[in-house]
Amino acid sequence: MLRPRDRKDLAVTEQRQPSTSPVPAPGGTARLAGRAVARVGYGVMQLERAGVSRDTALALLRQAVAAGVNHLDTAQFYGPCNELIRAALAPYAEGLVLVTKVGAERDASGALVPAQRPEQLRAQVEANLTALGTERVDVVNLRRVDGRPGIVATGDQVVDLDDQLAELTALRAAGKVGAVGLSGVTAAQLGQALPAGIACVQNLYSVLDRDAEPVLGACREHGVAWVPFFPLGGAFPGRPKAGDSPVIKAAAADLGITPGQVALAWLLGRYEQTLLIPGTASPAHLAENLAAGDVTLPPAVTAALDNLTATEDHQ
Ligand SMILES: NC(=O)c1ccc[n+]([C@@H]2O[C@H](COP(=O)([O-])OP(=O)(O)OC[C@H]3O[C@@H](n4cnc5c(N)ncnc54)[C@H](OP(=O)(O)O)[C@@H]3O)[C@@H](O)[C@H]2O)c1
Repeated sequence: MLRPRDRKDLAVTEQRQPSTSPVPAPGGTARLAGRAVARVGYGVMQLERAGVSRDTALALLRQAVAAGVNHLDTAQFYGPCNELIRAALAPYAEGLVLVTKVGAERDASGALVPAQRPEQLRAQVEANLTALGTERVDVVNLRRVDGRPGIVATGDQVVDLDDQLAELTALRAAGKVGAVGLSGVTAAQLGQALPAGIACVQNLYSVLDRDAEPVLGACREHGVAWVPFFPLGGAFPGRPKAGDSPVIKAAAADLGITPGQVALAWLLGRYEQTLLIPGTASPAHLAENLAAGDVTLPPAVTAALDNLTATEDHQ
């Protein structure tokens, strides 16, 4: 379990420790790195958005944990997010699973750039440990940047996967990393990495974007946890959003729930080892997303969504 680095941290944060009284896990639980986590977690990336105040961010993190979330997804390159997690939640409750990712960093101008070389991965793990105020981070996802979406590796940033896994498994053996996951990978890369022990895969995937379906299939085959990012379509313009889809909106209206809840419930139904990390900077949206864990879609709605493609839905 995560431990604060020193007593000084405890003194600073003791007053802020959220209640650890048991509340039902949103969406029930699944296994991640040998731990039971709520199937609806919280991705903290939206907290780096301009206009989200520190007080709002701290309150959102505490709201999530108080509501039963014990899986937070972060990254050092999400600006202030790690420090916010530490300020809101350290000393960390037993059972809280912190997941970070490595493979990119901010350059001097603030732009996100690949940082794929093994020594860069190690430096990023250390930076995460320092910012989170812990001696071990539960899961570290290796974010590959072989192709879009997002930044793409060129030159000396094109690094052999086995060399990266050797570095991360050495960090795991040293106790700094609890488990290793992958992000932005193909099914073949997952197969290549499996002998190293892979806790989860985090790829772009949603009801409106199924390109990663073969990777989900490989996760099912090997019992690896599946953590789709952009589960609602993300915040970036130009990507299909659950809330803009006429088919999803109609299903939501019929069921008396929101389009986002339909999209999240569909993902949960896809595979029992799916773990959600929807991102939001809104307390109301956070509550809504966690409540999606209680939704079971009727088979006819699931079938209609199974057959939906973003292209058809927006014609
Ligand atoms: N591995 C990777 O490469 C990678 C890449 C990107 C993200 N991630 C992880 O995945 C997590 C989720 O991704 P994301 O936050 O970018 O995308 P997302 O969860 O699909 O969508 C977030 C967007 O949806 C809005 N939203 C959230 N809940 C809503 C609701 N109930 N109703 C209406 N709108 C809602 C948010 O705005 P509001 O703030 O207004 O609610 C925000 O604009 C991130 O936090 C991050 O941890 C990983």
